[in-house]
Amino acid sequence: MQSSTFVFASSQEMRRYLGGDEDLYLYTRYANPTLRALEEALAALEGGEAGLVFASGMAAMTTALVSLVSAGDEVLASATLYGGTARLVREVLPRLGVPGRMVPLADPAGLRSLVGPKSRVLVFESPTNPTVDVLDVRAITAQAHDLGLTVVVDNTFATPILQQPLALGADLVMHSLTKALAGHSDLVGGALVGSRERIEAARATLKVLGGCMDPHPAFLAIRGLKTLHLRVQRQGENALAAARFLEGHPRVRRVLYPGLPSHPAHEVAKRQMSGFGGMVSFVLDGGLPAAERFYDGLRLIARAASLGGVETLVSLPVHTSHHGYSEAQLREAGVDPGMVRVSFGVEDADDLVADLDRALAGV
Ligand SMILES: Cc1ncc(COP(=O)(O)O)c(C=O)c1O
Repeated sequence: MQSSTFVFASSQEMRRYLGGDEDLYLYTRYANPTLRALEEALAALEGGEAGLVFASGMAAMTTALVSLVSAGDEVLASATLYGGTARLVREVLPRLGVPGRMVPLADPAGLRSLVGPKSRVLVFESPTNPTVDVLDVRAITAQAHDLGLTVVVDNTFATPILQQPLALGADLVMHSLTKALAGHSDLVGGALVGSRERIEAARATLKVLGGCMDPHPAFLAIRGLKTLHLRVQRQGENALAAARFLEGHPRVRRVLYPGLPSHPAHEVAKRQMSGFGGMVSFVLDGGLPAAERFYDGLRLIARAASLGGVETLVSLPVHTSHHGYSEAQLREAGVDPGMVRVSFGVEDADDLVADLDRALAGV
């Protein structure tokens, strides 16, 4: 409902609200019927007890972490992670007395030697942005739980259509709704899904931090969800067709797509995902200048940040999610300066491959 506040018929009704009657609402930063409809849909999709929506994916992640830690606790985060989340863990939380450490998670057993006495939370995503690597969610989560960590998984790239981290053991799932869930590149939003207890703790933090979603984008996200399964299927088909084409192209050094048997985590992806998604990254010989020539040569594929929408979008990670990273930080994150990331939309696969081919010819 497009309203910031709600009318009470009487003081008795106000008292019913204060007593926990969930059919009554006070103020949209606390709860709103449209937001609740979206929260329930997301909880159902992820197989969680409850959901909570936010003004952006970053608001969701920030609220989740603030609800889970106190000064002195340490947050561990995967070395390959969306740049904004990495900055939150590396730069913002430490200023508030919560140190953050980036850790490699390719070998889940290695987590034991990386955990410290104050480590409380582990954050990771799979597939990873922009390296499209796949981490073993079940194995990492089992290790993390053994070590007393709470596990937050960013499921933005996979979507709940392809992967449900809660069923693999995670405690909280986080989404940038901006991406495939809403699906049309026309809104910014975020979400958490988990147990009722964890979501209520996050809601208490959201009420104070204030990053609530507005009802209108929530309405658009609900409409977007109706075609999520169709969009994700088509994006995956387009991504696979393009990945196969790119893998055979002489100017492409490496293709990162978990649907290719050559991908190092192809078997893990087959085990934990029901499809491989619409994100493909690849590395061109010739570094950033070659990547920029490719970028400039595209005609159909749009030069734009973000991902998961119905339109195919291309970005150069060193100019977007990993802008400003030092060479060492880029190496740690596995980002090559010649890396190109493509988020496949729902257009015709032959048209997309023809556009890639044309742009590669000019590299
Ligand atoms: C994997 C991933 N997580 C989180 C975010 C942040 O989401 P938002 O831009 O909605 O704040 C992004 C945005 O690009 C992302 O790609």
